[in-house]
Amino acid sequence: MDRLDQIVAEATAAFSETGDPDALEQVKAIYLGRNGRITDLLKGLGKLPVDERKAAGAAVNRAKEAVESALQQRREALRRMALAARLAEEALDVSLPGRAQSRGGLHPVTRTLERIEALFRSIGFAVADGPEIEAEFQNFTALNTPEDHPARSMHDTFYLEDEAGRVAKGILLRTHTSPIQVRYMQAHVARYAGLETMPEIRVIAPGRVYRVDSDATHSPMFHQVEGLWIGESVSFADLKGVIGDFLRRFFESDDLQVRFRPSFFPFTEPSAEIDMAFTSGSLKGRWLEIAGCGMVHPNVLRHVGIDPERYIGFAFGMGPDRLTMLRYGVNDLRLFFDGDLRFLRQFV
Ligand code: DAH
Repeated sequence: MDRLDQIVAEATAAFSETGDPDALEQVKAIYLGRNGRITDLLKGLGKLPVDERKAAGAAVNRAKEAVESALQQRREALRRMALAARLAEEALDVSLPGRAQSRGGLHPVTRTLERIEALFRSIGFAVADGPEIEAEFQNFTALNTPEDHPARSMHDTFYLEDEAGRVAKGILLRTHTSPIQVRYMQAHVARYAGLETMPEIRVIAPGRVYRVDSDATHSPMFHQVEGLWIGESVSFADLKGVIGDFLRRFFESDDLQVRFRPSFFPFTEPSAEIDMAFTSGSLKGRWLEIAGCGMVHPNVLRHVGIDPERYIGFAFGMGPDRLTMLRYGVNDLRLFFDGDLRFLRQFV
């Protein structure tokens, strides 16, 4: 075998024994590198007699091309092998069952709150919000609730601790949504301070409230919706009209009765408890308490800088959890807050 053929055969064999692209480039250098065997032969051509140079040059160049082509084929082969290995490794089993995207749904109490908001908006009420960690002033003092009122005791109210573990003064988890009345009136008064006549206040405020209480009909966290209408001639008759109309629209039924039972709240005078009863269906004739209400006490108006000689109005605080139980026929309040999907899915 001619020497050149032997070099080509050796190079081809060396390439095909190399399984790694980097190593292949090292092997290439042995033949085609600056001091490689083919390169040396090309360099040596100059020392040959002139008449032999041409034929020898052509032969070395053919050998060079053969080595380059063997190298190129090996590179290709290695690239295909790497690709095949990657495809095998990353293969997807398309026969596996898919992972379904499950759809979320609104909590039944959220549905009730949205419904209440829409109904009150339709008669011109704004919707307001307030902090759940509330100041004692807005939660009690401004609402005409005296220092020694039982609602202020640790027994009924969640207070907060400071870093040293002592009861933090002046702040608590709001026990009702009524402090939002106070905040809303304060902001309203500041906003219209320069006007001769203050525009009417018509607002509801839904939210979470907290009390030290837990059984089948009480949860330490529950919801309330506060309502407030203040103007120059807002009466108890307006309150009865608004509530009666709201309940008939909420339950989509005229088959219900509403009664106002005298009661007491420090922030209203007179005060009443609102009861309702269905006049048909399985709950027929059973009176259910759904809200507290009354004419806003003059002291509350004074606390927020509204003149009680000139402005008057009503407030109410209702329990949307109770309304949700009635609307869907649920008999244990705690079901709403357990997070059990088997229960919650029924409302989606
Ligand atoms: N804040 C009262 C409570 O949690 C409910 C209430 C009663 C709110 C009468 C009112 C009201 O605005 O006028 O028991």
